[in-house]
Amino acid sequence: MSRTPLVVGNWKMNGSLGAVASWAASFRALCEEAAPGCETGLCVPSVYVQPLAALFSGERALPGFGPGAETVSDREEPGAFTGEVSAAMLRDAGACWCIVGHSERRTLFGETDEVVARKVAAAHAAGLRPILCVGETLEEREAGKTRRTVLRQLDAVLGAAGISALAGGAVAYEPLWAIGTGKAAGAEDIKPVHAVIRSALTQADRTIGEGIRILYGGSVKPANAAGILSLPNVDGALVGGASLDAGNFYRICTAR
Ligand code: 13P
Repeated sequence: MSRTPLVVGNWKMNGSLGAVASWAASFRALCEEAAPGCETGLCVPSVYVQPLAALFSGERALPGFGPGAETVSDREEPGAFTGEVSAAMLRDAGACWCIVGHSERRTLFGETDEVVARKVAAAHAAGLRPILCVGETLEEREAGKTRRTVLRQLDAVLGAAGISALAGGAVAYEPLWAIGTGKAAGAEDIKPVHAVIRSALTQADRTIGEGIRILYGGSVKPANAAGILSLPNVDGALVGGASLDAGNFYRICTAR
């Protein structure tokens, strides 16, 4: 089955109102000159979701582009949860995508598989398209536990939230040892993991599982994007550092 490639930026805790405005103007100019030929998205800190969305809404909508958030609360109902931002609020602010279970959330902020599963369910219930991140540490890889780790993370979501929560969304394979290191995983590292993810998705539901895009993330940049994006079962990329610059991000989106 053919899947439209999807390239999404993740700004992490970077940016400013000014950076959002200049990124939007540069990215728009590049896309209007030549459409990137894939779906695109940019996930930003929650306070910047609405300003970003406003720059791409109504008459200013850019075909195939959607603003997004980097995480979401697992609480669905409004209430006494100081500091939390719900999926409904992110939708209200104009988010289309939402990264869930990024390794930095898991390792630095203690998000467990169970919390991640609830967040995916909450995102889906509010109409956000979740991008579920999975990936192993260097220690797990060296101990031969890559497949086990990734399947544990994926199964937790499939078991609790169901595969329909990921329909319209994506799974991003981000090996922790490749994030922010400048050294992306090689084809021989990426291919088997993406195949395992695809197989788990299609086992859960053939039609939905075939349609879910599997992205690779970890030191993707203009120079290595074409090689990575051409691999089997790699339907796009989740881009950290290189997405801060609209030109670099566009070059990744158009890499063939
Ligand atoms: P880098 O592209 O900076 O390695 O970050 C990857 C990432 O964590 C995207 O979510």
